[in-house]
Amino acid sequence: MTRMQAWGGVAGKRVVITGATNGIGLAAATELALRGAHLTLVARSESRAREAIYRIQAARDGVAVDVLLADLASQASIRRLAAEALAKYSSIQVLINNAGAIYARRQHSPDGIELTWAVNHLAPFLLTSLLLDRLKASAPARIVTTSSGAHEGAAIPFDDLIANRGTGGRGFPRYGQTKLANILFTTELARRLAGSGVTANAYHPGFVASGFNRNNGFLMRIGMGIARPFARSAAKGAQTLVWLVDSEEAGQTSGGYFFDMRPATPSVAARDPQAAQRLWQLSEQQVAAA
Ligand SMILES: NC(=O)c1ccc[n+]([C@@H]2O[C@H](COP(=O)([O-])OP(=O)(O)OC[C@H]3O[C@@H](n4cnc5c(N)ncnc54)[C@H](OP(=O)(O)O)[C@@H]3O)[C@@H](O)[C@H]2O)c1
Repeated sequence: MTRMQAWGGVAGKRVVITGATNGIGLAAATELALRGAHLTLVARSESRAREAIYRIQAARDGVAVDVLLADLASQASIRRLAAEALAKYSSIQVLINNAGAIYARRQHSPDGIELTWAVNHLAPFLLTSLLLDRLKASAPARIVTTSSGAHEGAAIPFDDLIANRGTGGRGFPRYGQTKLANILFTTELARRLAGSGVTANAYHPGFVASGFNRNNGFLMRIGMGIARPFARSAAKGAQTLVWLVDSEEAGQTSGGYFFDMRPATPSVAARDPQAAQRLWQLSEQQVAAA
């Protein structure tokens, strides 16, 4: 971890956040708007974005919220999104890679990549890479990626990243791999950003009552409904994210993994710098190939 410079809070800073139309991202965006951030929501649906803005403005009357439309499953869409963001904003001080999903059934992205990997890992990797020079030019700046405790017990399938073999390309095991990839990505990103004034951190929001896993049919929706009383609220899940973005204290570290606003120790597999570098190189190939 590296010592970083003073920050001064999120007020007045341009924050680009993915996955803010629902759940943890929407709760974080609402809180960040209350704290004076200049928000840009990345959304795949205009109507979902309008709904989110309505809810953010219900919390802070009249606050301006920008929207950029993109389907994070598609690398072409991410490239268009980044080009729009770079054209629109001369500075971007915060990038929040929060969008994510689990797929019970194996599916492919428009680029032919297994969908969980495309949305949860390659999308943050590509979007961050495309915005990185602007973030560096806007330093001090912060990049925060929503990982999960579900990375525990997972291993990156280096010889089959797109999970073409076996039954690995779906469900919780695959989701865990992508959340491990979020941490390894953050580790290598932080290493590359050392001395730049840009920090990169990841966190686990806890088990949160959100829209998560509701895309996987009736039984999963029932299951999530039953588990709901044991889950924390989206606002509670967003607390660490807001803290990582806003607080002075969080800016003192880069390459960290946090839970409940404290440093946490991720799995052994997530603490392997060689794996982080290898994943970075392979991810570069995967986004170049599409
Ligand atoms: N809920 C939990 O217990 C939990 C625990 C640990 C980690 N997490 C992580 O927290 C993050 C947020 O999840 P959540 O629980 O808040 O779930 P959620 O309520 O389902 O929200 C997911 C967000 O991601 C967006 N999204 C999904 N696929 C997308 C795509 N292809 N393009 C653009 N946006 C896309 C969704 O947009 P739409 O509104 O258009 O669907 C929504 O805004 C995820 O990274 C998840 O892995 C969640």
